[in-house]
Amino acid sequence: MSAKSSLSIVGTGSYLPGKPYTNHDLARVMDTDDAWIQQRTGIAQRHYAPEGVGASDLALEASKRALAAAKLAAEDIDYILFATMTPDFILPGSAPVLGAKLGAAGIPALDIRQQCAAMIYALQLADALIATDNVSRILLVGAEAHAGFMPWNDWDLLDSADAPRPSDAAWKRATDHRALAVLFGDGAGAWVLTRGPRFDRGLLAIDLHADGNYATKLHIPAGFRTRPFISKKTVDEDLFIPRMEGKDVFKHAVTKLPKSVLRCCSRAGVKLEDVDLFVAHQANQRINESVREALGVPIEKVPSNIARVGNTSAATIPILYDEIVRSGQVKEGMLICFLALGAGLHWGSALFRV
Ligand code: ACO
Repeated sequence: MSAKSSLSIVGTGSYLPGKPYTNHDLARVMDTDDAWIQQRTGIAQRHYAPEGVGASDLALEASKRALAAAKLAAEDIDYILFATMTPDFILPGSAPVLGAKLGAAGIPALDIRQQCAAMIYALQLADALIATDNVSRILLVGAEAHAGFMPWNDWDLLDSADAPRPSDAAWKRATDHRALAVLFGDGAGAWVLTRGPRFDRGLLAIDLHADGNYATKLHIPAGFRTRPFISKKTVDEDLFIPRMEGKDVFKHAVTKLPKSVLRCCSRAGVKLEDVDLFVAHQANQRINESVREALGVPIEKVPSNIARVGNTSAATIPILYDEIVRSGQVKEGMLICFLALGAGLHWGSALFRV
């Protein structure tokens, strides 16, 4: 899309921590069941970052894999873009932390926080950066460690069928947050982006939006409006756990995303039928089915990994894209549509020729 050069994804990698936790495991700590979760979301299992492991650690593993795939070393990178809504620290962001862990300290490192839609925003940023004279190789990472906001404290209960039932209070607390808690899983995906030689490749068009009128439809209430910003009340009232009006967010996704994709195609001057693959954010399989049906797109063009990994927020699109690259589904010259809606609200789509 930029006048000076085309963006090229030259290496991808992803990382999921530890063993998967099934819906049956979650049913040991809250009132839920596999049938409800599968039918309403399409999710069967998810991974969680262990205690002490942050988004930058997950990102480090995914980045190493992406760099290896690109046959590049960390010192070849000259810019880091890091998308996460679950940073290691409230401040600083996770991008400089990843840079240091990679052995790439000193280069610019930028955090972006557009939640599930972050990778669409990041593609536009990367496209603009790569057109400048002093950026030629970007490491773009999405990573999440949602485990820190899960509504239970005793993680051992998830591990064994013989584990005792939690206290009534612990059971009620987790059940109060069950619609949200069953959705999210942890992981990281990374892409190495460079300036490609062909001007008919890369980012062809983008359609981006944000509407803060809906900020509290999906948000973490804790923050700097209160003094101190973390207090006993934050913990007692679970103000660090996201609040989500799920039905509303669902409706926004199924109405806004098809329109965004059509606008993006029109901007790029391509027909919807010309798109080879739709790499969609994985928030809920029913959202993606509804968007697919609204657009009239065949099922084979909409890859899905939500059953295995759940909703990994900003990590979702880079993880899914890495999986389809490694499985051989992505071929040179293909037209890919990336699309996502998430908290903010932020939403949009991007058309990318590989
Ligand atoms: N297990 C069993 N029952 C449940 C569960 C659960 N995990 N969760 C909710 N229920 C119950 C509710 O208590 C309710 O029971 P009631 O009728 O007796 O009151 C019933 O199921 C229906 O609950 P709803 O919340 O209305 O269920 P809904 O069909 O809306 O599904 C869901 C909830 C899956 C969260 C859905 O609304 C959704 O996916 N929304 C969109 C999520 C999304 O896209 N988020 C944005 C991306 S994430 C990001 O940006 C960070």
